[in-house]
Amino acid sequence: PTSQDVIPEPWRFDCYPERGVVVTKEMCEARNCCFIPASSSLPPSRRNGIPWCFYPQEFPSYSLVSLNDTSLGQKGQLVREVKTYYPGDILNLELEIRHETDTRLRVRITDPSNSRFEVPITVPNATEKAESPAYTVELSKEPFGLIVKRSSTGAVLLNTTVAPLFYADQFLQFSSSLPSQFIYGLGEHRSSFLHDVQWNTLTMWARDVPPMEMTNLYGAHPFYLAMEEGGNAYGLFLLNSNAMDVVLQPAPAVTWRTIGGILDFYIFLGPDPGSVIEQYQEVIGFPAMPIYWALGYHLCRWGYGSSNATWEVVKKMRNSGTPQDAQWNDIDYMNHFMDFTFDPANFATLPDLVKDLHAHDQRYVMILDPGISSTQAEGSYWPYDEGLRRGVFINDSDGNTLIGKVWPGLTAYPDFSDHVTHEWWYDNLKSFHEKVPFDGLWIDMNEPSNFLDGSTKGCPSNSLENPPYTPGVLGGLLRGKTVCASAQHKHSLHYNMHSLYGLMEAKASRIVGKRPFVISRSTFPSHGMYSGHWLGDNRSHWKDLYTSIAGILTFNILGIPLVGADICGFSEQPQEELCVRWTQLGAFYPFTRNHNAIDMKPQDPTAFSSLAGTAMKQALLLRYSLFPLLYTLFHHAHVHGHTVARPLMFEFPNDTKTYGIDRQFLWGSGLLITPVLDPGVNYVVGYFPEGLWYDYYTGNSVRSKGEDMRLPAPLDQINLHLREGTITPTQTPNLTLWVSSGQPLHLVSALSEDGSASGDLFWDDGESIDTYETNQYAYIVFSVSQVKYLATFPSIACSNPISPCSPTCSSDMYKHISGLQLPLKGYWLKS
Ligand code: GLC
Repeated sequence: PTSQDVIPEPWRFDCYPERGVVVTKEMCEARNCCFIPASSSLPPSRRNGIPWCFYPQEFPSYSLVSLNDTSLGQKGQLVREVKTYYPGDILNLELEIRHETDTRLRVRITDPSNSRFEVPITVPNATEKAESPAYTVELSKEPFGLIVKRSSTGAVLLNTTVAPLFYADQFLQFSSSLPSQFIYGLGEHRSSFLHDVQWNTLTMWARDVPPMEMTNLYGAHPFYLAMEEGGNAYGLFLLNSNAMDVVLQPAPAVTWRTIGGILDFYIFLGPDPGSVIEQYQEVIGFPAMPIYWALGYHLCRWGYGSSNATWEVVKKMRNSGTPQDAQWNDIDYMNHFMDFTFDPANFATLPDLVKDLHAHDQRYVMILDPGISSTQAEGSYWPYDEGLRRGVFINDSDGNTLIGKVWPGLTAYPDFSDHVTHEWWYDNLKSFHEKVPFDGLWIDMNEPSNFLDGSTKGCPSNSLENPPYTPGVLGGLLRGKTVCASAQHKHSLHYNMHSLYGLMEAKASRIVGKRPFVISRSTFPSHGMYSGHWLGDNRSHWKDLYTSIAGILTFNILGIPLVGADICGFSEQPQEELCVRWTQLGAFYPFTRNHNAIDMKPQDPTAFSSLAGTAMKQALLLRYSLFPLLYTLFHHAHVHGHTVARPLMFEFPNDTKTYGIDRQFLWGSGLLITPVLDPGVNYVVGYFPEGLWYDYYTGNSVRSKGEDMRLPAPLDQINLHLREGTITPTQTPNLTLWVSSGQPLHLVSALSEDGSASGDLFWDDGESIDTYETNQYAYIVFSVSQVKYLATFPSIACSNPISPCSPTCSSDMYKHISGLQLPLKGYWLKS
């Protein structure tokens, strides 16, 4: 039989992925591929359908012609005899296999004759070969293929023999089987948490667009986590920033298709989901420990119109007793939307507002967009004049400053790949800070966004602008609503650096001596070290309320735990009920901010009926009372790469019923959040993994066999359950976290059947940099067993009372704990 007869549909790898063309038999055969119309009646042009044109088994690929041992693994030579149908085939390649650690394998395929673009993020430099790796690597020579298995189970984690390898200058592609259809990550996309493997193409290329399905969004994260049979998990990270498609198909299999850089990927062996992402973050960097107030409630909108109107809302919030740590302003604070200015008329009182916020232990955050106005009279706008003098802007391919258009009109774009630009950005931040002592930065539009395609002059016609293959980017052009792909950064071409822009800007956006607070729209792996993220321009729809959970869980597995969606929705007008439910769920986003588009009615908690306002306030007070837990979870994210908002499957990897859950999630290991995501209901159905669960409010327990449960869900309360065996530290809440922090701590114990539970607390001054690294913190482990309450101090390193964000370090806390009553067996107690 020919290969056409034997390759079943799920295993057909697309030989003609170009969009917008109707592939005919002739076109397909010209590529030496097989043409068979798919059994279902999907038209061939359907973006994610079964390919009608696919590689035959004997399609020419590379051969492995030599192989040598190295200190870290092996190096080999790959040779392709037959050119592919894309220009610029690199016929000789170097393969390097590095056994970096027992749970981390790295594979690099490079061009030994010419250096190619590599992503400029710092990754560990392994020097010794892993001693007893949890994986085996097998190589097939002809055609070349790589098979990676988990040693303990034989599970095949990678098998690239399923399709040919491509390595042309602008088309690099490999495919692999997947051990299961359970695959997560691959941001940034709007989708369910668990990805669909039914011919699903996820394209990556940073893009400013309100989140919609099947579309490349603001960030690019070429990392996935996948499950194997039996509850093991592994991950794969392709260290590549070029525009790419990741294709999932039902075999199940995956294809990585990128248009530049090199092939450099890591496999992480876990074996549980949490360890996989910990190992991933060992490569990309652990997230920063947030400043304490980052975890409070943030209020924002576009179109307050004046500093006084902003101030009014702040006062209303205070008067209503609703917690608020930070007030934000959008672009309307600026003078004609120009960075580092403020409107001298409407925002004349901005410095006073900021002073007042500080006097109330509140903080001020403002937006900054990268585009710098290029049309002001010479001598009147320092950021541009000085930027030109120092040569900080991105150039077009002719070497002239590239001009695009954003809110202030025509703009130049800082080239954050260059340290000179960082200094100039810092100088701007510093001088503005002297006028308006802001506390944090919201860096938006950093895909970078452009209202024009490319520049005022368009873009040249060349292979960077019109590559032989363009991934499925929105609109079909790399320059769509951004700068030209052929534009030049100091470090490399925009073609290579585009999706790194937000990361590079975040790195530059720090000024004060405390932990910086930065929230960025565009992100790339390692971004968590510098900033958090919000999920962009969502809508005030119930659907957006639901999809926010997948977004938050995905960014937690991508190493950016400080993430939230615009509470109550950005565009359109939320109904009161939606806004209440959203504030309740939003109180459990790791980053919690209400934000609203211009011209929309106010949607802050004081803008609704007193019933609704009270429900929102209660939700926020609940969050504030759980701050000791949340802060401790962020500590574990910072030190161990743990998730804060945690998918249920992380805690119950052997329970396949948890694999698709994205209507519920956990904080850490023990607090289960079951929000209402639908209108007009007074109950909610949630899944409870096997075990004992305690209602957070009543203490009533229920034993689950691993089943769905129907829970009452009145409008004024979100369902919360504690998992047996956990101790949750809480505090009496207050209007700001600063004020709350002087309150006594409480422990909530959820005992397991045998009467035991444990938990922990990380506590420090809340704002100094590197308190963990410099031993300025307390870390306390609590445990209850049968009749004794124990508090142990594996690590107490603070000598002074930790001011002002804490009760004293050790003795008071200990007294308080030792004053607790013994909880009854099987029951819990808040004291
Ligand atoms: C972008 C941001 C949005 C902001 C608006 C105006 O659309 O995503 O949050 O309000 O710009 O600055």
